[in-house]
Amino acid sequence: MDITNRTVFIAGATSGIGLELACRFAAAGSTVIVGGRRTDLFDKLEAEGFGTVPIDVTDQDSVDRARDTILRGHPDLDTIVTMSGVMIPEDLRDPAHFGDAAKTIDTNLLGTIRVIDAFTPHLIGRGAGTIVTVSSGIGFLPFPVMPTYAASKAGVHAYSEALRAQLDGTGVEVSELVPPAVATAPEHKQHNPHALDLAEFATEVMDLLRTEPTPHEILVKGVMMHRWAERDGTYDELVAARTQALAMLPSLLAMARSDYRNPASR
Ligand SMILES: NC(=O)c1ccc[n+]([C@@H]2O[C@H](COP(=O)([O-])OP(=O)(O)OC[C@H]3O[C@@H](n4cnc5c(N)ncnc54)[C@H](OP(=O)(O)O)[C@@H]3O)[C@@H](O)[C@H]2O)c1
Repeated sequence: MDITNRTVFIAGATSGIGLELACRFAAAGSTVIVGGRRTDLFDKLEAEGFGTVPIDVTDQDSVDRARDTILRGHPDLDTIVTMSGVMIPEDLRDPAHFGDAAKTIDTNLLGTIRVIDAFTPHLIGRGAGTIVTVSSGIGFLPFPVMPTYAASKAGVHAYSEALRAQLDGTGVEVSELVPPAVATAPEHKQHNPHALDLAEFATEVMDLLRTEPTPHEILVKGVMMHRWAERDGTYDELVAARTQALAMLPSLLAMARSDYRNPASR
């Protein structure tokens, strides 16, 4: 796809991968509208040249309001990226995990569907456009520490495939970004030394997005082992290795709980 002249809405771009890709689209010449719940970040984002719109992808009214605001200001919108996501460790032996499971599905899977539904009629009406969904290597190669997260991202993959088939012939293309672990903050490298550097990851993603035709899946080199583990016959061995991370589950749960207690917590 041509990334130099797009009007892009990224739901979930107030931080992390979404913000980095927002910067890359803008640097390439595109207009970018950033969405998220942390409206306290908007002044800074607007000073950097982004449009901003409040959106909570778990709330249908909020998604509809965001859609109306964006299309009023940017009737030429041609690209949406469904980046909003949460990543929560869960102990399935404790039924109290259900709240986290519900939040994960509501944000990662139903949130993706709400945002796509809000903009699909507009894109079909234009006869051209791109929907970029965001799954995860964990959707293809489970990480037992985050069961519902893996399920939600496997769901995003399956949904993206069906969406592409149903939109065939409308001019609206569907591309699924499949990130592996990416270090969106310096401390992430301490937890996972294999996590990719955010800037290097974004450069690879933009190079892949730029190719014509737009790939059905945006697969950086670092995610190939996840994506193709079943085909390559490495699945059982890799899942067994990743299962060892369950030893860290108590500390990961404690960290997640302290994050919830933090007033700045998301
Ligand atoms: N980093 C990785 O290793 C990795 C690997 C594979 C896949 N991914 C996926 O990549 C995406 C971005 O992750 P990240 O690592 O960059 O994390 P991040 O920095 O925490 O970004 C998550 C974004 O989602 C937004 N968000 C969360 N809940 C939302 C809601 N209810 N409504 C609207 N926006 C919401 C957040 O904005 P607000 O808080 O402002 O709402 C934030 O902008 C996620 O879908 C994640 O699953 C990440």
